[in-house]
Amino acid sequence: MTSNDARNERETPDPATALRPRLPSPLQEVVDDRFTRYGVRLLLKRDDLIHPDLVGNKWRKLAPNLRAAAARPLLTFGGAYSNHLRATAAAGRLLGLETIGVVRGEELADRPLNPSLARCSADGMRLHFIDRSMYRHKAERETLTGILRAADAEEAYVVPEGGSNSLAVRGCRALGEELRGRADVVAVACGTGGTLAGLAAGLAPGQRALGIPVLKGGFLTAEVTALQTRAFGARRGTWSLDDRFHFGGYARTTPELEAFATDFASRHGLPVERLYVAKLLYGLVTLTREGAFPRGTTVAAVITGRPFP
Ligand SMILES: Cc1ncc(COP(=O)(O)O)c(C=O)c1O
Repeated sequence: MTSNDARNERETPDPATALRPRLPSPLQEVVDDRFTRYGVRLLLKRDDLIHPDLVGNKWRKLAPNLRAAAARPLLTFGGAYSNHLRATAAAGRLLGLETIGVVRGEELADRPLNPSLARCSADGMRLHFIDRSMYRHKAERETLTGILRAADAEEAYVVPEGGSNSLAVRGCRALGEELRGRADVVAVACGTGGTLAGLAAGLAPGQRALGIPVLKGGFLTAEVTALQTRAFGARRGTWSLDDRFHFGGYARTTPELEAFATDFASRHGLPVERLYVAKLLYGLVTLTREGAFPRGTTVAAVITGRPFP
């Protein structure tokens, strides 16, 4: 029996059948005078309700990769608080799939696991810590081969950091398709840009997508274009980025943003994830105040995550 035969014998259950995601995700209108005053309707696309463990864009990106892994161990990358690592670990537990998380920061190996990595480990993910310089070069072939060897995972199916490969981008196209005819502008927070790349491709002509990067650096236009080209052969849909709402960079915040998120949560009963969703909603309030959306515009904000306790 070849290793392929063995793999097929213990096929992973299909994620959509085994995990029963709530799709299409709910679309809810919220009444907020910071929008209504300017004649703008705000809708929340509640991707955070798709699945309790594969929250938001994690479902859309991971489901096609879980299928493609075809029972091989799944190896992926992330920082110490990565939502993507937690979702991958949970998927592994739910589907009986071996998972390996390559974590940025060799020094973390000697410290007690933080709550996020502890959750990954409790879900059965094997953690492999690497130094930051190697982590930066992880997409290069030789470095990756070395990492797989050191992690004893040479047979693994590899998913990049943030989960944004072509399968994931195509998976996110369904988010746009679910919003066809429902909004004029669809806004989403961006890390790697994979969700925006797919979302924009799924929208109908006349709709546009707006990305709010949470990382500093202004590199995402090229990145999203490259992701779309790899996934679809060319740039797709109408999309743009507004780089003004990263609050200093990834995981950076200010008392003002924190107060905004707390207030939004209590006004609308929405658990506001702080690393991405708070910056998106803050950006939309600001853009509306600036007159970026003509009266009569319907804006849908994609709620891509939920706070991690
Ligand atoms: C909650 C949340 N929202 C948005 C994003 C950004 O997604 P992307 O990396 O596809 O831009 C992430 C990162 O994966 C995330 O965890």
